Amino acid sequence: MKQTRFLKSPLNYIGGKYKLLSQIMPLFPTNISTFVDLFCGGCNVAINVEAKKILCNDNLIYLIELLEFLQSNSIQSTLEQTQETIKKYTLNKTNENGYYALRNDYNKKKSPIFLLCLIAFCFNHQIRFNNSHHFNNPFGKNKSSFNDTMKNNLIAFIKTIQEKEIHFSKLDFTKALENIPQKSFVYADPPYLITQSTYNDGKRGFSGWNEYLEQKLLYSLDELNSQNIYFALSNVLYHKQNENKILKKWIQSRKYTIHNIDSHYTNANYQTKYKDKNQTQEVLITNY
Ligand SMILES: C[S@@+](CC[C@H](N)C(=O)[O-])C[C@H]1O[C@@H](n2cnc3c(N)ncnc32)[C@H](O)[C@@H]1O
Repeated sequence: MKQTRFLKSPLNYIGGKYKLLSQIMPLFPTNISTFVDLFCGGCNVAINVEAKKILCNDNLIYLIELLEFLQSNSIQSTLEQTQETIKKYTLNKTNENGYYALRNDYNKKKSPIFLLCLIAFCFNHQIRFNNSHHFNNPFGKNKSSFNDTMKNNLIAFIKTIQEKEIHFSKLDFTKALENIPQKSFVYADPPYLITQSTYNDGKRGFSGWNEYLEQKLLYSLDELNSQNIYFALSNVLYHKQNENKILKKWIQSRKYTIHNIDSHYTNANYQTKYKDKNQTQEVLITNY
C-alpha cells in the first residue's frame, strides 16, 4: 500500500500520524458509521477515513478554531487572506522581525488566518502554545515558508473538510465521549506518556499529559468496550529506556488485540536498513 494514496494535513502537528496511515488504516473496521477522532490534532487520520459522519475533537481550542475557519471559508478567500497577511508582515524565509510582529499580533487577537501564517513560517511548522495561551514557536529561519507543498496540501485539505460531513469540538476527551452515537468507531491518538513532546511538557504545553490522564483514558476505553463500541488506541509501549507501565499492565489484564506498528516505516529503500536506535515500540490496540 503506498503512502501517496493519503492526504497530508497542512497542519504539521507533532505526533501527526500521516507517515503511519498505511499501517494503521487497514486495521480499522470497514463500514464505519460515525468516526470519532478523539485527539484529532492536524486531522491526518480523520481526513483519510471513509465514514458517514466524522467527529473531530481536540482540547487545543485555537487549533479547532482554525479548522472551523478553514471549513467555513472558501478556498479562494483563505488563500487571499493568507497572501494579504504575508504581504502585510513581509513574511519570507529571512524576515525574523516580520514573523515576530505577526506572532505578537496573533497572541493579542487570535485570528485563525494569523495562526495559519505562523504555522507556515515557524520552526518545523509546529503548533506550540505555552500555558498563557501564547503561540511561542520561534521563527523557522531559512527553512519554513508558505511554499507550494503547504499550499497544495492546504487546498486538498479544505476541499476534504468541506465535502465530508465533519463536525469539530474543542472538549476534553472525557466530555467529547459523552454524546457519541452508539454506532461509533473511536480512534484515540493521545499525547504519548513516555515520549517527549511539546504538549506533554507541562511548562510549554497547553495542558500536560500525565499518568492520571492516561489512566482516565484507558478507563474510558474500557467503558466503550462495555458498551460494544469499537475503539483503536495508538500509543508507544517502549521508548529509549522507558516503558509505559500503565499501558502494559492494562494490556496484560485485558483481551484486546495489539498490533505492532513500525514507527520508522517508509517506502524509501535507504530507510529499510535504518535501525531504530531509540527502540521505540509503537502499537495500535483494538477491541475488535
Ligand atoms: C498525538 S496528537 C494527535 C495527532 C493527530 N492524530 C494527527 O495525525 O495529526 C495528540 C492531540 O491530543 C490533544 N490533547 C491533549 N490533551 C487532550 C485532552 N485532555 N482532551 C482532548 N485532546 C487533548 C493535543 O492538543 C494534540 O493535538
